[in-house]
Amino acid sequence: MILSIESSCDDSAISITQIATKKLLFHKKISQEVDHSIYGGVVPELAARLHAEALPKILAQCEPYFQDLKAVAVTASPGLAVTLIEGVTLAKAVSVALDIPLIGVNHLIGHIYSLFIEKETLFPLTVLLVSGGHTQVMEVKSLTDITTVAKSMDDSFGESFDKVAKMMGLGYPGGPAIEKLAKKGERKKYDFTVPLLRTPKFAFSYSGLKNAVRLAVEKVEPDDYKDIAASFEHIATKHLTHKLKKYFQTHPPKNFAIVGGASANLYLRAQIQELLQPYKVNLLLSDLEYCSDNAAMIGRVAVEMYEKQMFTALEDLDITPKSNI
Ligand code: KG4
Ligand code: ZN
Repeated sequence: MILSIESSCDDSAISITQIATKKLLFHKKISQEVDHSIYGGVVPELAARLHAEALPKILAQCEPYFQDLKAVAVTASPGLAVTLIEGVTLAKAVSVALDIPLIGVNHLIGHIYSLFIEKETLFPLTVLLVSGGHTQVMEVKSLTDITTVAKSMDDSFGESFDKVAKMMGLGYPGGPAIEKLAKKGERKKYDFTVPLLRTPKFAFSYSGLKNAVRLAVEKVEPDDYKDIAASFEHIATKHLTHKLKKYFQTHPPKNFAIVGGASANLYLRAQIQELLQPYKVNLLLSDLEYCSDNAAMIGRVAVEMYEKQMFTALEDLDITPKSNI
């Protein structure tokens, strides 16, 4: 069994995964959303303090498994430096106390493997990762062969939802709040410009759209926010499908997946499904509970890394907050 720890942002989570069967034996997550909500975003120092409280509590519940642990895994990159360090420090303590090897996991690879919790992997796979920290398209051939083919030049998809929600006083995280409000609004009411429409570059950008939304929000009463939310969600999604459509002309997907916290968005899921129709490809999605940050996905990567003996020595495991794929 492998014990895996996740603390890259505002979720404290620990899982226990069986190596041979990939079965998830234990998973507990303590989310800090309510604590950060009043600030309209994650406050790193507060998040770190809350991880320091929550992680040992969850770890105590894992004691019955301690004697069977073969390794301890932890998210070491990317993420918030002050929160990553909480998980890594705890993982090192477990490694020393139980005399088991350490596995440092990349959080983005974790999101990809959220598709394969208690399942076998399926490659090659084109992956759209939409989270609070990232918006990128990756071609995944295996655990160690992942190429990023497009990413956001500024804000991420999820982050733009968080910022628009903050403008409307809807708290954090903004994604679910905007999605709920958008259902009541008219998607064509505001004619926001689709970002990067005229450039052939395969990349994303959300800061211009966010600023256009800000101007619209400032001009109306809260009763009209629903139409802005609906139009924003429509254009934010259209930006993704527009860029993907062009990319598919030269790189038709074999298997396609959407992962990350914002992959829970049902409008996005529906629009991508429509886009994929002509290609007759499999659309892979994570279970809703594993779209946002969790330790089950870190455990799933850790099983692969354990089998390949991809361990990191205690003195070499360091956090790399900005590392990407
Ligand atoms: O993957 P995740 O839990 O954390 C990061 O790795 O960043 O993603 C969190 C992000 C937040 O920005 C949140 O607003 C967004 O995912 N999100 C959504 C939805 N649910 C969560 N965005 C749009 N629609 C949603 N339903
Ligand atoms: Zn994440």
